[in-house]
Parts: sequence; structure tokens; C-alpha cells
Amino acid sequence: MKPCKEEEEAAAAQAAAGDGRGGGADPWKECAEVAVQLALRAGQIIKKALTEEKRVSTKTSAADLVTETDHLVEDLIISELRKKFPSHRFIAEESTAAGEKCVLTDSPTWIIDPIDGTCNFVHRFPTVAVSIGFAVNRELEFGVIYHCTEERLYTGRRGQGAFCNQQRLRVSRETDLSKALVLTEIGPKRDPDTLKLFFSNMERLLHAKAHGVRVIGSSTLALCLLASGAADAYYQFGLHCWDLAAATVIIREAGGIVIDTSGGPLDLMSCRVVAAGTREMAMLIAQAIQTINYGRDDEK
Ligand code: IPD
Repeated sequence: MKPCKEEEEAAAAQAAAGDGRGGGADPWKECAEVAVQLALRAGQIIKKALTEEKRVSTKTSAADLVTETDHLVEDLIISELRKKFPSHRFIAEESTAAGEKCVLTDSPTWIIDPIDGTCNFVHRFPTVAVSIGFAVNRELEFGVIYHCTEERLYTGRRGQGAFCNQQRLRVSRETDLSKALVLTEIGPKRDPDTLKLFFSNMERLLHAKAHGVRVIGSSTLALCLLASGAADAYYQFGLHCWDLAAATVIIREAGGIVIDTSGGPLDLMSCRVVAAGTREMAMLIAQAIQTINYGRDDEK
């Protein structure tokens, strides 16, 4: 059977010189190393800009913010990666907001959030991160998230574990919702129906006697806290593939699971997720919450 266009592209990309494969048993080694260097570089820019004056604009809602630093960091990361890996593709928050298609193919693809927690960043609330994920054949290979104000570098590579500053990460093994600390994020929509569902979901978990529900303003860092075992579960409607890609590898490699809010397999483009240390916990959360419709990233 003739390979489809995407298969041909993926094969061509892998065959190309300088595609970032380290060869042998450690494919995509060079890419993972470059991602770490770029995340650290981007982190320095974000940390410096945090306390400076910012030009702030809005995107899909009054609570969906963007600054010149988001653009600067995204441009820096993409231009450096393009120089090194010219055959690779990119999905990135601000390029998508500017109208680029957000479609994941089989080609090696970088999935980038230049500043996750932009609202925090605008307010100088120091819970902000840069997130770089990488997928090949639609499978997530590695993720790098840098919490620049705390200088915490989270990394995960498929089959090779997850780490924070070289310390191995392990998720919590809690299975009982009445003993769980749960994380979520509000998402950008603020219309009355969405807010009603958002608060009703929190209420459902609190009625189920969860110990607490926390919102820290950065999906990627909340997901890293889950990967570290500092919380037992995470759920959200309205997060994007760039909020989720890197963190998904980190959580899986820390022993956790990341699924759709229906309880089925994760769909990176669906803008909905449940993650937990255990499958039992993830299913309890998925059963407790109601769906908030945000559409799909690849249909915008
Ligand atoms: C957002 C943050 C926020 C979450 C949104 C995300 P951004 O990312 O993680 O906490 O509620 O769903 O899109 O816009 O700061 O990169």
C-alpha cells in the first residue's frame, strides 16, 4: 500500500540529517537536550520581565491575556528550533492565536507554550512556566517545563522517567477521593453557563469529601505538582494542547495516568483532561464532573 502524505513526511523527516535523533537506543536525544537549553534561556527572559511594565492584550476573552514577552519567547524558541531541525513542525500558543492551523500530524512536532500562566505573569504572581513538548507519529516523546521563578526544571522522556532538577518524580498512589487533594484551572470562558458548570464541578468534588480543590493559575505547573505527588488528581476543561503536551509525558513517566474527561483515552486536541496518580482516582474524578464544552484545538 502506498504510504500517505503524512507517513512520507514523517519518514523524510526522520531520514533527514540533523533531525534530532541521537541514533541507536536513544532517539530524539539531541532534541530533548536542545529543548532543555531553550527552556532555561526562555525562563531567564520571563523571570526578568515578570517585574517590569508589560503591554497586555486580550485574545478569546477578557481573561485570556497575552504580552509582548509571550511573543518574544515563542519567536525565540521556534526560530532556534527551526535553524536546528528545519524539517520539524510547530504548534504554539501565540502562532495559533495569530491564525496558524493547530493540527498534529505524524511529522516530528514541537508543541510550545511560551508562558503558561500569562495572567499570573501580568500580575507578577510568580507561578509561571515555559512548556515544550515533542511528538512523533502523534506520540508524545518528551516534555520540558521550566518553572523559572523557582528554578525548577521538570523533564520527562518516554520510557526514561520524569525528573525535577534531576530528582526522580513519583505520583501519589491515592485511590480514595475522600482523601484527595485535587487541582483544576478555571479556563478562559467566563459566561454564566460555563461558570455555573465550573463551580458545580468543584462542589461535586467537595460533596464527595475531597480534602480540597486548588487553582494556581498555571495548568502546566499544576500538572507538574501532580507528577511530584503533591496532589492526587487534576481535571480541566478549556486547556490547550500546548498546556498539556509536555506535562502529559512527565506525569506518565512519574507513574500517573492522563485520560479524557469521559474516562476514555486522552485526545490532546480535545481541550479536556483528567490526570491522576492512579487509574481509580482518575475514573472517580471523570465520573464526578460534568462536561464544559470548549470545542477542539484542531477545529479552530
Ligand atoms: C492558561 C493557564 C490557565 C488555564 C488556561 C490555560 P496560558 O495558559 O494555564 O491557568 O486556566 O486554560 O490556557 O494562557 O497562561 O498560557
